[in-house]
Amino acid sequence: MRHFLDINQTDPTELRAIIDQARAMKDARNGGPKGNADADQPLKGRMAALIFEKPSTRTRVSFDVGIRQMGGQTMVLSGADMQLGHGETIADTARVLSRYVDLIMIRTFEEATLLEMAEYATVPVINGLTNRTHPCQIMADVMTYEEHRGPIAGKKVVWSGDGNNVCASFIHAAGQFGFDLTFTGPEPLDPERVFIEQARAKGADIRIERDPVKAVQGADLVVTDTWVSMHDPQSARERRHNQLRGYQVNDALMAHARPDALFMHCLPAHRDDEVTSSVMDGPNSVVFDEAENRLHAQKAIVRWSLGL
Ligand code: CP
Repeated sequence: MRHFLDINQTDPTELRAIIDQARAMKDARNGGPKGNADADQPLKGRMAALIFEKPSTRTRVSFDVGIRQMGGQTMVLSGADMQLGHGETIADTARVLSRYVDLIMIRTFEEATLLEMAEYATVPVINGLTNRTHPCQIMADVMTYEEHRGPIAGKKVVWSGDGNNVCASFIHAAGQFGFDLTFTGPEPLDPERVFIEQARAKGADIRIERDPVKAVQGADLVVTDTWVSMHDPQSARERRHNQLRGYQVNDALMAHARPDALFMHCLPAHRDDEVTSSVMDGPNSVVFDEAENRLHAQKAIVRWSLGL
């Protein structure tokens, strides 16, 4: 039994094995994301609880579909509808769910909730996003980059905008997969220093460059995300838009990256805020491949967690 809590807590060889299995499972479906059950049914007879304390489209559907494709069953639970939302402790919830299900995936606010769930559950727990990190997304993003351009090791990734939870997991991945990452954004929205130092300690070249044009020079991959995350107060919206307007990914900015630089966004996107439609729908964008690869990458994460 193995929890998948964060990319920086999983051994690089294990991460690589997960990506390889995701590719193999995708290839075995002839590249198609939908349709019938996988020929291989490793999750037959297994049940997963998918807990959401925040909204989701991709995470919810891709985990649900992926587990079913592998022969497993799922129950999607809203945190607000559980006793968890009415005073039952996370530890007790973890102990109880472990008597019913074989795996727990949770999307929550505080990282402490995820960690407590993992401490007390006797089945694997997977991080489906917290305020601090989003590891499943970045496993899909690494897979997507490599499908299009080959090994990501040694490449230059530029994150433009808010140094949020998705950015944090990209920084974790830089340390584990051996690529370099430049963050460009306003200082108040810098990624957490501890994540930068951890990745640097593993040999990744992590830089902060306030000028987005300088930042994207030589970039192999440009990434952005929403300017107001789910856990940010809506009252911060106007301030954040003012802080981040200069970091919009548009054609003018992409023109300074390498001509073959890919563009990624974990979605949902706010078109013409953090990214223009011309970039989202342009030839270098792989945003819908990223979304599809959530399915394949998470199927491999589930199998890894269960030792299947
Ligand atoms: N990228 C992502 O996690 O999407 P959802 O919020 O729709 O799950």
